[in-house]
Amino acid sequence: MTNFQSDALVFFGATGDLAYKKIFPSLQAMVKRGHLNVPVVGVAKAGWNLDQLRARAKDSLEKHGGLDATAFEKLVGLLRYVDGDYQDPSTFSALRQELKDAKRPAHYLAIPPVLFETVVQRLAESNCGSGARVIVEKPFGHDLASAQELNKVLLGAFGEADIFRIDHYLGKRAVNNVLAFRFANAFAEAFWNRNYIESVEITMAEDFGVQGRGGFYDQTGTIRDVVQNHLFQVLSNLAMEPPVRSDSDSIRDEKVKVLRAVATIEEKDLVRGQFRGYRDENGVAKDSQTETFAAVKLEINSWRWKGVPFYIRAGKCLPTTCTEIVAKFRKPPSLIPDSLLVGNHLRLRLSPEITIAMGMMSLAPNAEGLALQTGEMMASHSPRADEMDAYERVLGSAMDGDSTLFAREDYVEEAWRIVEPVLKKNTPVYQYAPQTWGPAEIDRVTPPGGWSNPGEKKAFAVASEAA
Ligand code: BG6
Repeated sequence: MTNFQSDALVFFGATGDLAYKKIFPSLQAMVKRGHLNVPVVGVAKAGWNLDQLRARAKDSLEKHGGLDATAFEKLVGLLRYVDGDYQDPSTFSALRQELKDAKRPAHYLAIPPVLFETVVQRLAESNCGSGARVIVEKPFGHDLASAQELNKVLLGAFGEADIFRIDHYLGKRAVNNVLAFRFANAFAEAFWNRNYIESVEITMAEDFGVQGRGGFYDQTGTIRDVVQNHLFQVLSNLAMEPPVRSDSDSIRDEKVKVLRAVATIEEKDLVRGQFRGYRDENGVAKDSQTETFAAVKLEINSWRWKGVPFYIRAGKCLPTTCTEIVAKFRKPPSLIPDSLLVGNHLRLRLSPEITIAMGMMSLAPNAEGLALQTGEMMASHSPRADEMDAYERVLGSAMDGDSTLFAREDYVEEAWRIVEPVLKKNTPVYQYAPQTWGPAEIDRVTPPGGWSNPGEKKAFAVASEAA
């Protein structure tokens, strides 16, 4: 069943962290925009009642994004609550009752993945699942086999068109802007290939630690948390071919092709790091070998990209919070000596602001002779305060039955295929000082000319001819 609008939204894990930080703010925004006007049923096992859930929603909004009195009041009017154990069929009978005559509910599983199977089975048995959609959160499984198992469970109760795998990076406008830049500008196609690009770097830096999520994070690590999903989505947008049509499957077909062309990561192409102090976090093992930083080098064996290394780096407790792509151009066959060619690049910043910058060389204005500098031509804007947040966008899309912003199973499996072997090898994890750019050992996985660190001004570097 496709293309109908869900007539109720159920979210499991209503008292949890994700609901608190992301879901309530998105629900309020949806209500405010007039995009949500159906019952919203929270489910959890907390011994709570509806008033307690409402209070939690209020607190969440006050801390995350701000409470809008009118929208909040409407949201409160839509909220329902079912308390109970996910194992217990009576929880689902109570849910069916709360759903009243809803025929097309969307069930959002904002719960730990170990509970997915139970909830999906109970939904199917209780008649809450018929005509319904299911929305699950990344990471989808923790390796290839568990992802396949999870998929089997989901497909046992729902059709593929009714399964929505959330990777909220797909809901970010900045991530989609990469496609707009590539496919709305004819000039971009001319240089966006192995003939002109020497290397591509993707950096996702966060200046904070695990923010009380030590228990989850220690079981997950950077590669499973953000590389295998969020950053591979960015990679796919950067490297994919233009889709032949604009429907969701044509776009997702091209993304899967990128991953199919990516070689499995080898040990020599990975550096894992852990910030000092991580092992003191709540929920983290004292001898934890989990990475809070990872740098990988990937090869894409496609017609467009063969021979161009792609570097991905992500970490917690780095010097800044920023997601940025830098593509370095090859040096031209110029008469100018190589040592003077300081470098051209394309820089796409995805957050906190959205920037497209082209780094170009020109004669340095305040120097004599053949002195070159790189200056950036830049288009940049900060997201508007009323812009849709990624969660708002993906929840709305799932309720509309539009799969474009969701990961498809074949994509998820390819992503695991790329990272799984090296994840299972217990590669060393090197310590790094908080607020630095990761461990010293990163030298092994570093683009030619070094990593471009967001915030460190590379533009206006001047190289001049030696006297
Ligand atoms: C989540 C990860 O999926 O994405 C977090 O679990 C990470 O560890 C977060 O901080 C980053 O997303 P955003 O939208 O806040 O940049």
